[in-house]
This record gives sequence, C-alpha cells and structure tokens, in this order.
Amino acid sequence: MDKNQASKQISTLREELHRHNYQYYVLSQPEISDYEFDMKLKELQQLEAQFPEFFDENSPTMRVGDDRNLKFEQAEHKYPMLSLGNTYNLGELTDFDNRIRKILGPERVFNYVCELKYDGASVSLVYHCGKLLRAVTRGDGTVGDNVTGNIKTIKSIPLQLFGTGFPDVFEMRGEVILKHQDFKRMNAERLEDGEQPFANPRNAVSGTLKSQNSSVVAARKPDAVLYFLLSENLPFDSHFENLQIARKWGFKTPENSKLAKNIKEVFEYINYWDKERNNLPFDIDGIVIKMDSKQLQDELGATGKSPRWAISYKFKAEQVVTELLSVDFQVGRTGVITPVANLAPVQLAGTTVKRASLHNAEIIKTLDIRIGDFVFLEKGGEIIPKITGVELSKRPKNAHSFEYLKKCPECGTVLVRNETEIQHYCPNSHNCPPQIKGKIEHFIARKAMNINAGEATIKALFDAGFVKNIADLYFLSQQQILTLEGFKQKSASNLLVSIEESKKVPFERVLFALGIRFVGSTVAKTLATAFETIDTLISADFVQLISVEEVGDKIAESIIEHFKNEENKEIISRLKQAGLRFSIEKKEIKGNKFEGLTFVISGVFAQHSRDELKNLIEENGGKNVSSVSKNTNYFLAGENVGPSKMAKVTEFNIKVISENDFIKLLSQS
Ligand code: IVH
Repeated sequence: MDKNQASKQISTLREELHRHNYQYYVLSQPEISDYEFDMKLKELQQLEAQFPEFFDENSPTMRVGDDRNLKFEQAEHKYPMLSLGNTYNLGELTDFDNRIRKILGPERVFNYVCELKYDGASVSLVYHCGKLLRAVTRGDGTVGDNVTGNIKTIKSIPLQLFGTGFPDVFEMRGEVILKHQDFKRMNAERLEDGEQPFANPRNAVSGTLKSQNSSVVAARKPDAVLYFLLSENLPFDSHFENLQIARKWGFKTPENSKLAKNIKEVFEYINYWDKERNNLPFDIDGIVIKMDSKQLQDELGATGKSPRWAISYKFKAEQVVTELLSVDFQVGRTGVITPVANLAPVQLAGTTVKRASLHNAEIIKTLDIRIGDFVFLEKGGEIIPKITGVELSKRPKNAHSFEYLKKCPECGTVLVRNETEIQHYCPNSHNCPPQIKGKIEHFIARKAMNINAGEATIKALFDAGFVKNIADLYFLSQQQILTLEGFKQKSASNLLVSIEESKKVPFERVLFALGIRFVGSTVAKTLATAFETIDTLISADFVQLISVEEVGDKIAESIIEHFKNEENKEIISRLKQAGLRFSIEKKEIKGNKFEGLTFVISGVFAQHSRDELKNLIEENGGKNVSSVSKNTNYFLAGENVGPSKMAKVTEFNIKVISENDFIKLLSQS
C-alpha cells in the first residue's frame, strides 16, 4: 500500500471506529460485532505502526473506550483501569507465552490462571476498613462515573466484609453482568411498556448502571463477579489464592477458574469452555489468562494500554449460513413496522432458528439483503439471533432486492418515517387492526388495567365489532359477550366483573394503560405524581413536561401529540364517563410534621427508593414537587444529583438535606 492509499484507509477506519465507539459506549446500540470491531481496530493499529507520519493523538487506537455519562459525578481511579490485549488466534497465545518466557528467562517456573471473560460492564470498588466506599465505572480508564448508589443495590456485592485479613484500603475490580433469565424478563417487560428491547445482556447492564433511578437497577437484578484485587498489601503473592480468600470476605469471585502450569493446559481450558459456554446461565465472550504471581506481574509491567502479564482470548461468535426465504412485516401496537426474516431452519448455539428480526430499512439497505440470499446468522452467546451479512459467493442470479414496504401490510395506509427515527410506522393508529388489538391488549395487561381476558377474546370482541377501542370495553353488555363463541353465563359475567374491578386501578396505571408512545410504567408513575390529574397533564406545555425529571424531548412531544388527537380525546372522555381514575389519590395522612413544607427529591438513595421517600413526605402532610423554585423548603439530595438542579438549589438558597437528615427530621418530635 502506498502512502496515499494508507492515509485514506487510516482516516476511513478512524471515522468508522469513532462512530462505532459512540454506538457502543454512548448509545449502547452496537451496529457491528465485537469481532468486526476488533479486526478494524487491528488493521488501523498496523497501518499506524507502518506509517507513523499519520499519528493522531485522538485516534481510536489511543483510548480504551469511554462509558461515561456526564450526569454522574466523576471519580478518578487510583490505578488506571487498563484494558487487556486480546486475540482470536491460538497462535498469538503461544507468542504471548514465548514473550513472557523470554523476559523472565527460561528457568523461571510459574503458573497462569485461566478465568472466564465475563461479558458485562466493568466496575471498580473501593473498600476502606472493610466497608464499600465507592463504586466507579471504567470511563476512559482514568476517570469514570461514580455509580455507588446503583451498585449498592446489587445483592452479591458486599457492603461490609466478613472475617479478617483484608487490607485497610484496597480496590476490587470485576464485572457487572445480567443472567439470561433476568435479561429475558427485563426485555419482556420493556416490550410490554412499549420500549425497545436491549440487544444483549451486556448492553442491558451498561444501560442499567447509568440509570438515574437506583430502584430501576434493583428491579433488573444485575449480578457481579469480582476478579481482580489491587492493593500494596495483599495477603498472598498468588492471584488465585487472593481470590480464594476474597470469597471468604464476601466477594463473589470466579467459580470456574483454573491454575495452568503451561500454555498447553491453557489450551485445554479454552477448548473446554468454547463448547461448554452455551450451558452457562450468563454470557462470556472469551477467556482471560493471567500470570498468577503478583511479583512476576509487576516485573512484566504494562505497555501504555494493557498489562504484559495478561491477555484475553476471545471466542468468535458462533456463525452459520442459511437461506433467507421471505420477509414478513409486523405491525406493533404503536404502529411501528418490524421486518422479520423467515429462514431455512438452522441449528445455532443449541437452538433451532427459523426467524430473525431485520430491525429496520436501514439495516436491510446497509447489508444489501435480498430474498434467496444465504445470510450469516450469529448468536455469539447472545440470545437474539442476528443477521450480520450476506454470503455473496452464494447469491443466486435471480435474487432480487426488494423495495421496503411503502404501505401498511394490514390497513394499506402509507407508512411514515420521522427524520429522527430509524423505524417506519403506520400512522393509522385508530383504524389499523393490529394496532387496535395491540392497544387493547396493552390496556388490559397485568401491569396496566389487569382485566382478565386473553388475546383470543380481544380478537373475538374486535371481529364482532363490539370493541373498536379501549373505551368500548366499559360499554359491553352481557348479551353481546354471550354471542361470542365459547362464552357462557359464568364466563361472560366473570369478564364483566373483571372490567368493573379495573375501575379501581390507580391513576398512574391508567395513564400507562393508555399506551402513549414512550410512556412506560415508570414514566407514567412520574407523570402521575408530577401532574396529579389527567387534565393538568393534558394542558401541560412542552416546557412544563420536560421540567419533570426523566421526561425528555421525545416523551414530551409524544404526550402532546397524543392528547392533540381528537379520537384520543374522545376515548379519554368516555373512560372518565365510565368511572376510571384520572387523578392520584391523596395519601392517607399519618402526621402533620411536614405540613406546609415543599420538598424536591433528586438523585439516588441508599436506604429508600424515591417513591418511598415521597410517600413518607405525603403521609406526613408535606408536598412533593418536581422542580426547584423559591417556594421549595427542602432539597432532599441523594447521589448523582444533576448539575443544573444543583445550580438552581444554590441560586434560590434552598436547604439541602441528606437521606439521614431526612430520617432524623421525621423522627424528631
Ligand atoms: S482482568 C488488568 N478478568 O475484560 C487486568 N477482566 O479488556 C484487568 N473482563 O475491561 C482485567 N472478565 O471488563 C479480567 N476474568 C476477568 C474478566 C475481565 C471480563 C473484562 C474487563 C476488562 C476487559 C478486558
């Protein structure tokens, strides 16, 4: 390659890698596999080494990635959090071993420790005198987000150590992970809430750690494995032994590690886990090989980015090739269109795959996928199969690229795509059958109105013309239900009783049940607390909406859009007429300690959820408001309070109290 070509290729790769870094670390929405990313990075590293004249201090090769979310307080790492050199190639592991033997001399005897490479988000935990002092994400390796409040909700992380023998001050590093079962449950709930599911457990974990609400973290049940102790006075020279004793102090350390006397034993470990990893209840993306002796680790030292005493071997995501038979387009309850590939059935990572989501028009275009193509399918430990490319050498001559759908497959309405959104959707929300049925199913769901009816009943009610929107449910008669197949007196009255019961459901759930785009159960609760009645919410303008914590532009616009719609207005007025709850219930007052006082709660708390604190305030006669003004009496601050909020608190000179101060206030007579 000549200099000119190299210069071009270097800038193309830099641009691409910067974008993929952003997709991965900021949006948690990677577009390419780790393998593809690493290959591009390697190519760039090689070109930069070959053509040093194109050095750039901001090249993607100059950093370890950055997961910071600037809403969190920043904390500096005492020891930089380096990343590991990685390889997909067993030959390079032999090189690693040879390099070490050359530096240390041929007669040195040592062990390697083999560990699983957990696929989650790394954290650093600092302990002082056996107590967890703070938890920080990797960030850019030097400075990370202080996520202590969120980390404290993880039950497997000890807040107070057991036993004796731990250094007064030390750091423990590890990985926060999400087990498959918890990942599945969380995604099912997201779908139910009308939110995009996470692509894999790793993205779900990094998204979760950045949550501004620690009760969200707690509910998702992340787990943590701790694999690296740092201190000037560790009990043993052996990493393996240090982790064993750390388990006695209360840490969940790797369970499947092994001491290896030589590189051959390392290979045996790799071969075993390459197959066995499909049976683990969580994702791993490779194996980490570490020098066991701390003294030898120090002797070997580190290069700028990674230690010389450790390396990771990454498994290639399992990949198969299969034929794309056809593409269906599904219409969701909010009208979003999802293209789904029908595939010739194929075995992949232990299951038979017949269908895979193609996500959106953009992906189909980028990959240039055509009907009749043979496509690469990957699972890579991940749960949802993904089409990652086309085997062009197998492309049949008659394979035709297909036009992305222009009209809704269900109602024929012309599809729209907003500039800021990647998905097409059908705007005919009130007359498109799957949208109507989807909205009704969402409305009656357990977390919403909890009406006891299945998909089949909804379909029957819709097909018979009795229920064309959610409000119609409340005007059904027993006679109508009895005309449906399979319904008798008893089952018909059960359905009516269940509908009647739903009128007692609190406002926040009614609001969620309405199925406003981007208003999931958590946002609905926040809105209900902030606005108290549906009428105040309906009349709220954009600025009032976004001044509520957790409500951004996208949600605010969607709410305004929803209430502007005549059909939605009509539905709400009929639901009111039916007697549903459209305002929050005033809390039972247990005391008057806070009478006349106004509180603003912000941040993440160690002992109570925000809702619990709000309840305590209301039960004692106080008032919660969402934004700070000169009328605020107390600002109850947890961790990670946003800087703009804090600025207002200072501006209005408002008294700031901690969770403990609050409890004291409450218990004073
Ligand atoms: S040791 C200096 N051990 O892999 C060595 N890392 O790039 C510190 N990881 O960011 C890391 N499992 O998030 C180590 N058993 C394990 C690991 C592990 C997963 C992650 C970690 C790190 C990345 C390496």
